[in-house]
Amino acid sequence: MCGIVGYIGKEQAAPVLLDGLDKLEYRGYDSAGIAVFDGEKIQSAKARGRLKVLRELTHGGEKLPGNCGIGHTRWATHGIPSDKNAHPHFNESESIAVVHNGIIENYLKLKNHLIEKGYKFTSDTDTEVVAHLLDYYYKGDPLEAVVRMMHRVEGSYALGILFRDHPGKLYAVRKDSPLITGTSKTGNLIASDVPAILKYTRDVYFIQNEEIACLEEDSIHFYNIDGEPIEKEAVTIQWDVSAAEKAGYEHFMLKEIYEQPKAVLDTLNPRIRDGKIEIDELGMSDDEIKKIKKIYIVACGSAYHTGVTAKYVFEGMARIPVEVDLASEFRYRDPILDEDTLLIVVSQSGETADTLAALREAKARNVRTLGIVNVVGSSIAREADNVMYTWAGPEIAVATTKAYSTQLIAEYLLAMKFAQVRGTVTQQEIDEMVEALKQLPGQIELLLDHKEKIQRFANRYIAARDIFFIGRGIDYAISLEGSLKLKEISYIHSEAYAAGELKHGTISLIEEGTLVAAVLTQEDLYKKMISNMVEVKTRGAFLLAVTNMGNTEVEKAADYVIYIPKTHKYFTNSLAVIPLQLFGYYVALGKGCDVDKPRNLAKSVTVE
Ligand code: AGP
Repeated sequence: MCGIVGYIGKEQAAPVLLDGLDKLEYRGYDSAGIAVFDGEKIQSAKARGRLKVLRELTHGGEKLPGNCGIGHTRWATHGIPSDKNAHPHFNESESIAVVHNGIIENYLKLKNHLIEKGYKFTSDTDTEVVAHLLDYYYKGDPLEAVVRMMHRVEGSYALGILFRDHPGKLYAVRKDSPLITGTSKTGNLIASDVPAILKYTRDVYFIQNEEIACLEEDSIHFYNIDGEPIEKEAVTIQWDVSAAEKAGYEHFMLKEIYEQPKAVLDTLNPRIRDGKIEIDELGMSDDEIKKIKKIYIVACGSAYHTGVTAKYVFEGMARIPVEVDLASEFRYRDPILDEDTLLIVVSQSGETADTLAALREAKARNVRTLGIVNVVGSSIAREADNVMYTWAGPEIAVATTKAYSTQLIAEYLLAMKFAQVRGTVTQQEIDEMVEALKQLPGQIELLLDHKEKIQRFANRYIAARDIFFIGRGIDYAISLEGSLKLKEISYIHSEAYAAGELKHGTISLIEEGTLVAAVLTQEDLYKKMISNMVEVKTRGAFLLAVTNMGNTEVEKAADYVIYIPKTHKYFTNSLAVIPLQLFGYYVALGKGCDVDKPRNLAKSVTVE
């Protein structure tokens, strides 16, 4: 996810752009840049690093005079964070400048087409393709060039565009990435999100998919994808500025819980092509995949929990032995590794010291390594032999949600790829799983609609002392994550237990009214789970059950049931975790805890 801004009006553009980017840094912060028309040409400045580097480079914008410009703060997807990959991007004659938020999915095909036409590229980004494509289509009418570009580009985009030959105009267009425009007292603005322009205006126009805006100093005109004029109504924003950075959500955590459908979609889409699993970045041939005899999945915290799920999925689907290890344990236990081992490290930040150390330990032993990472260009992403990015976008809340969900998706896809190559699943089974994966974003949306019901239930437990989560198989992995989400933000003691293990000691802690959350998504284990539920119920527990739609049998034992939509047995974690995330969030909210920045914790634990 990146942030774009644009301004055209009576004031100097650069300071307005920097101010807007400052409010969008939560959307991406590995590099930034601005471009301003100075009356003759489009001048630009861009730099790797936080926005303050760019601010210093441009002396607060003074070094770029002009009243029309665009700006960008980057969350790298294609091309590591660097000065050359920072936006804006230009055509060769620098008569067209572009800033972009989104992913151009067919950029390689378009890039090759343009190179054949003689175009030369200077960056590794997908965005640069747009600048050259506009150049290719520009014959004097910028609107026509924009329309023709839109008909060729696939993927998601919010674009700010300057044409040197049309200095009084700033173009903006979107598909699937957010974009707004607004009119201030001194001019007109575009932005990825409300916070960037709230200081200048509360009256904004939300650009809809495949709509184009043409901003002039004292007017904004809108067009559809065919270049035909359309009318739009302004909306008045009621938020205050701090709320706006959370797009109206009370906390980043809730915002990120609600971003999961899109994060899952963005992580899935580039890797399912014509019904087949394509993981170009894996860097392993089919023969190399066939040679793998053992997989280690090594991570910390929630990332580790995804590994516990992935063990069941990999072993069930690809019949490869998988060992899941806490990174802090792995590196000190002299693990048995050899050339037929693949080590997968999973990390949202890509900077977790324990996980990075485990990766280095494996590399020192010549073991092939793969990183599943959310932050492009992070240490783990750079040091792993290959990296499979999760496209969750920047995750601000300390308690991970959308990154966790995208890590699961990456692991499902890897297991499916390995199973496909090793022939341990049929094409029909792959087709069924691909279809189930495509359903997940919509099914997550459905579960998010139940937040009020979960909030009411959560409010009953803000004074709880102990809460237990139990499950068997993949449901045990889900219990681990449900327990961590609750305790790390509400400070209520919680434990996750393999349901069959509870009776070997810990059941002694169950008292009258103790809440036990039982996760039952594995049909072959329903009966066993229900008997474990009865065991704790007879000892006074209050039982919350999270189970598949239709498993009404559970109502004989449970006091409160949350049903999740049916999906493939390997993918249930992606759905069952949603009510558990909301439960943890609302308990913490009810207790008045600092949900986004819980005590004693950090977003990335860069110390051992
Ligand atoms: C999860 O909500 C916590 N923030 C924590 O357990 C986290 O998952 C762990 O520190 C690993 O972080 P990473 O994914 O950035 O490596």
